[in-house]
Amino acid sequence: MTEQQTVPLDIRSIGTPHPRVDGVEKVTGRAAYAVEHEVGDVGDPLHAWLVTSRVPKGRIAGIDAGPALAHPGVVSVLDHTNAPHLDDTSNGELAILQDDRVHFHGQVVALVLAETSEAAREGAALVEVRYDEEPFEAELREDNATYRPDQVNPAIETDTDEGDVDAALADAAVVVEQTYRTAYEHNNPLEPHATTAWWRDEDGEPALSLFDSTQGVHGVVSTLAPMLGVEEDQIRVRAPYVGGGFGSKGEAHAHVLAAALAAQVTDGRPVRLAVTRQQMFTLTGYRTATISHFRLGADADGRLTAIEHRVQEQTSAVREFAEQTASPTRMLYAAPNRRTSHRLARLDVAVPSWMRAPGEMPGVFAHEVAMDELAVACGLDPIELRVRNEPETDPETGKPFNDRRLVDCLRRGAERFGWADRPEAPRSTEDGEWWVGTGVAAATYPAMVQPGNQARVRFLGEGRYAVAIGSVDIGTGARTVLTQIAADALGTGPDAIDLEIADSLLPPATVAGGSSGTSSWGGAIVAAAQRFRADHGTEPSPGAETTASAAENPNAEKYAFHSFGAVFAEARVHRWTGEIRVPRLLGVYSVGRIVNPATARSQLVGGLVMGLSAALFEEGVRDPRFGHPVTQDLATYHVAAHADALDVQAEWLDESDERFTPMGSRGIGEIGIVGTAAAVANATYHATGVRVRSIPVTADRFL
Ligand code: MOS
Repeated sequence: MTEQQTVPLDIRSIGTPHPRVDGVEKVTGRAAYAVEHEVGDVGDPLHAWLVTSRVPKGRIAGIDAGPALAHPGVVSVLDHTNAPHLDDTSNGELAILQDDRVHFHGQVVALVLAETSEAAREGAALVEVRYDEEPFEAELREDNATYRPDQVNPAIETDTDEGDVDAALADAAVVVEQTYRTAYEHNNPLEPHATTAWWRDEDGEPALSLFDSTQGVHGVVSTLAPMLGVEEDQIRVRAPYVGGGFGSKGEAHAHVLAAALAAQVTDGRPVRLAVTRQQMFTLTGYRTATISHFRLGADADGRLTAIEHRVQEQTSAVREFAEQTASPTRMLYAAPNRRTSHRLARLDVAVPSWMRAPGEMPGVFAHEVAMDELAVACGLDPIELRVRNEPETDPETGKPFNDRRLVDCLRRGAERFGWADRPEAPRSTEDGEWWVGTGVAAATYPAMVQPGNQARVRFLGEGRYAVAIGSVDIGTGARTVLTQIAADALGTGPDAIDLEIADSLLPPATVAGGSSGTSSWGGAIVAAAQRFRADHGTEPSPGAETTASAAENPNAEKYAFHSFGAVFAEARVHRWTGEIRVPRLLGVYSVGRIVNPATARSQLVGGLVMGLSAALFEEGVRDPRFGHPVTQDLATYHVAAHADALDVQAEWLDESDERFTPMGSRGIGEIGIVGTAAAVANATYHATGVRVRSIPVTADRFL
C-alpha cells in the first residue's frame, strides 16, 4: 500500500504535454519583463546605472560627481555620502552605499540616475572615485582555504565523521586518492537581472512597488522590508515573466537595494535598473571554484570500505556563502567509514551564491570521476561497481530511501546507450583521426517541499476557478504545470483555471529553487482545492473561496527522499588537436511522476546541456591581483552553443511518488546538471587513456 499524504488526485491533465499557457504571450513579445513595464501614473521612469569599485579592498577617499552631473540628462548621483540610510545593514552584500568601505572589486560604490539609459551609462563613466587601498587576499589556494564555517548552504553540517576512515584506508585492497577541481562558474540567464522600483505615499505611509526579475517575490519582500525600515505589507513585488535564473535570482542582490534606494530620491518617479551582462559576473552571485580531495578505499571486489571527501572552496569576507559540495557524498554510496568536510578561503571577492545544483554539481563531479578511477583500479565495469555499492538505507540518516532507483536508471541507460558493446580498455576505439570513448556517472538531488506555501481557490461561476499563489515561473513552465495540477485537483480541465502567480499580494510562496517549486506550490494548490471541495461541494456559489496550505507530510520524517539519475556520454577526442566533441549524451532519471513531459524534457535536457557546458567550456578566469573575473561576457566566458549540443536525450522511469507529494512528482530543475560533467570527463578518459580531474576538460589536456 502506498502511504499517500492526501486524498488521491484524479490524474487527468497531469502527465500530458499541455502547451505552455503563456507561450503565445512570450513568442509574440507581449510578455513584459522587469524593466519593460509601464507603471502608470507615477511619472516617466528614471534610468539607473551602477558605478562599481575598481579596487578590491579599502576605503573610498572621495567621489567627484561633478563631471557626471554636468552631463546632459543626468539627474543625480548617489553614493555613500548622500544615499538614503538603511535600517539594517547586517547583510554585507546588500547594504550598499552606506559607508566608505570597499569589500571587493566590482562592488557598487555609486549610482547615476538619468533621463535615459544612455545618459545614465555615460554619466556613470564620468563619476570619479578615489580610493585608499588596503592589502587584500583574493586568490583561492589549498593553503588558505582553512576556515571552517558553522554550516554550509542552506543549513547543512560542515563536517561528518563516522567509523575509522584512516584504519579502513590502511586495510583497503584498493585505494584511490586524488584531487579534483571545478572552475568558477557564472549563471547567465538570458534576461539579465533587472528591477523597476517606485515609492508612493499611501495614507501617509510610504509604499514601495517593484517589478523584479526574481525567483521568489515574497523573498524579496522579506529581505527588503527590514533593510528599508518598512513593514512587509508596505512592499509589493511582482515578477510576471522572468527570463531564467539558475539560482542567481533566488535571493535579492545589491542591485535590487540600489533601485529601491534610488527610487526614494525621485519624488515618486520610477527607477529602472538593468544589471549589465558584465556586472552579472560579480554582482549577482556565481559558483565558487572547488577543490575536492577524495580518498576511496575498497576491498578486492570493489566494495567501498571508506569514503573521504575534503572540500576546499571560497567565500567572501563581506558575506558568507558556503557551497555544500560534500553533501551528496554523504548519501550516494554505502561504506561503513565515511568522512566529509568543508573549508573555505574568506576572500576579498564578490559574494558567491546559488548556481544550479549548488553542492551536488561540483561534488558529484569529483565523486563520480573518483568512482570511475576505482572501477579501473578494481578491473570492474563502472556500472557494476556502482551496483555493488548500493546502500540499503540512506547512509547519512539511516532512514530507508523512499524510492532509490539508481540501479534501474543505470541499467535502462546502459540498454539504450548500447553499453554492453563497450570495450573495457581505454584508448581502444579509433574512428579516423578521433579517439572514441564512453563514460557514465550517477546523478542525485534531494527532493524538497518547502514549508510556508499557501494557495487560494475561488469559484468564478460558469465552471471557472481562479487559483492564486505567489510563485514565479522563471521559464520552467511552472505556470503551465500549476494550471494542470489545479485542474486535476478541482476535477476540471486546465482551460477552466485562471491561474494568478508572481505577485507578493497573493498567498505566500517559496522560491523557485532547490527543485522544490512544483512540489511546494503544487502541494498547496492541491490542499486548497481539496479543502474548497470539502467546504463548498461540487456545486459552489460564485465567489466561494478557500485558502489553505498543505498539511505536514507524515512521511517526511520516515524516509530519505532523493531523486536519482544516470548520465551516459560518448566523447570523441581528436588525436592531433585534442578537440573534444560529445556526439551523444543521455540522462535517465527517477524523479517521481512527470507533470508535463514537454516542459520536463526541456528542464532535464537543459540541465544536461548546462552540465556539458561545465564539462567542456565554462571557466571564470580571475585576475589574481584583484580577484575579479576577467572573463565577464559571453565572448570570453564560453557556454555550450547549439553546435556543441548534439544528440542530447532525457528519459525518465515511469513512476509516481505519492508518499512525497499528492501529484507524485519529486522535482526536476537541478538533477540534469548533476553527474553530467563526470560522465563527459569519464568518456574522454575511456577515449584517450588520459585522466582529467578538473573541469572544464580542454583540448590541451590530450596533447
Ligand atoms: Mo536553484 S540553484 O536552487 O535556483
